[in-house]
Amino acid sequence: MHSPLVVTLDGPAGVGKSTLARNVAGHLGIAYMDTGAMFRTIALGLKEHIDTAQRCLTLHGPALEAALHQFTFALQGNGETTTLLCNNRPVGNEIRSEEAGLMAAAVAVSPEVRTFLKAAQQALGARFSLVAEGRDMGTEVFPQAACKIFLDASPEVRAKRRFLQLQEMGSPADLPTLTAQIAQRDAQDRNRAIAPLRPAADAVIIDTSTLSLEEVFQTIFQAVQAKAPGACPQ
Ligand code: DC
Repeated sequence: MHSPLVVTLDGPAGVGKSTLARNVAGHLGIAYMDTGAMFRTIALGLKEHIDTAQRCLTLHGPALEAALHQFTFALQGNGETTTLLCNNRPVGNEIRSEEAGLMAAAVAVSPEVRTFLKAAQQALGARFSLVAEGRDMGTEVFPQAACKIFLDASPEVRAKRRFLQLQEMGSPADLPTLTAQIAQRDAQDRNRAIAPLRPAADAVIIDTSTLSLEEVFQTIFQAVQAKAPGACPQ
């Protein structure tokens, strides 16, 4: 039996990973795993244990481990319609606010949280072929992945994209605030001691600043074709 195919897609906040991961998974006919959604779900679930001033969890050690074991993650379906389940329920849109993103970045510095989620993510990757999207998929969680992609773009470009996306959804947005939030999240994600955001040595790095979504998709697809030729539909 072949082992499942894993394509990793890492990069900073707002670079377009989720949309691209979904598209690539759809074309390959495999699941996608949004690991940011896992951190966000845990952050909201443990909200009352987050010190927002210090941007860290107030729970540690066995107490935190016990709290984490109340979260069970699963994937349902595949391709664009893959659904992330937590405790058998689909994870909803309440995790999508910038505030939830900042709380997720705060819980993501915790070694207990990272160890717990790494095991959960690896267990899913052992069962399903998937596009794994996050910050440390290529470096820490799936170092043996067949194909690793790292997406980047300047903070200004990412804030602008997010601004337009929110406007389209009819949500009020303020560009300077979004730019500041993205810069804050970058600092936390790139500078943390454990599993900081960085490309794996063997990742294909794509600067998306001046590329359309379609151009980035094509570049990713070519990389998958080159590294895992059997995976791509003809
Ligand atoms: O991709 P996202 O914006 O939904 O992620 C939210 C936060 O979760 C992000 O700022 C850092 C953390 N995260 C992480 O540390 N490692 C991952 N693999 C995915 C997300």
